[in-house]
Amino acid sequence: MHGAWFDHRMSDLRIRAARPGDLDTVLDFWKTAAEGTSISDDRDGVERLLARDPEAMLLAERDGELVGTVIAGFDGWRCHLYRLAVHPGHRRRGIATALLAAAEERFVRLGGRRADAMVLQRNETAHRAWGAAGYGPEEHWRRWVKPLGA
Ligand SMILES: CC(C)(COP(=O)(O)OP(=O)(O)OC[C@H]1O[C@@H](n2cnc3c(N)ncnc32)[C@H](O)[C@@H]1OP(=O)(O)O)[C@@H](O)C(=O)NCCC(=O)NCCS
Repeated sequence: MHGAWFDHRMSDLRIRAARPGDLDTVLDFWKTAAEGTSISDDRDGVERLLARDPEAMLLAERDGELVGTVIAGFDGWRCHLYRLAVHPGHRRRGIATALLAAAEERFVRLGGRRADAMVLQRNETAHRAWGAAGYGPEEHWRRWVKPLGA
């Protein structure tokens, strides 16, 4: 049964993979729910993600309304989590916890061994949420980046 692994239910919470038709709603959602913006926060960016990995973006819905997102990206080597965001009116109800559980289940199913996330130093709420889910910082790393095709 395709996709049954992400059909988590927590009371009326449903977690499922995003489909192309969800993407405008997701982009709007991030404007109010996400922390900052990402370089890939546009139609092209999210379409490319789903074209490459149709199950990478997980949505949490309550009564059909989008209340949370996370991207669970696995490239065959590393398991990266991006865009963990919960609607401000639905926080502290375990939605991020449920999204991360679904993402981790996906990673394990695909053979992933360790999950990671980029977390801003100043985002203390996120530190608490990631910490509660079992993640911890590795202080000896810095992200080194180079914009491509500028
Ligand atoms: C961070 C975020 C995703 C957490 O979502 P959430 O659904 O509220 O998290 P949960 O309800 O699953 O919280 C799980 C645990 O994390 C910790 N936690 C979460 N938010 C917290 C807060 N504001 N203060 C203290 N602890 C918090 C608690 O231990 C909590 O368990 P508890 O409620 O039983 O005490 C949400 O606050 C958010 O969307 N913030 C803006 C976007 C963002 O910063 N994303 C992270 C980017 S790295």
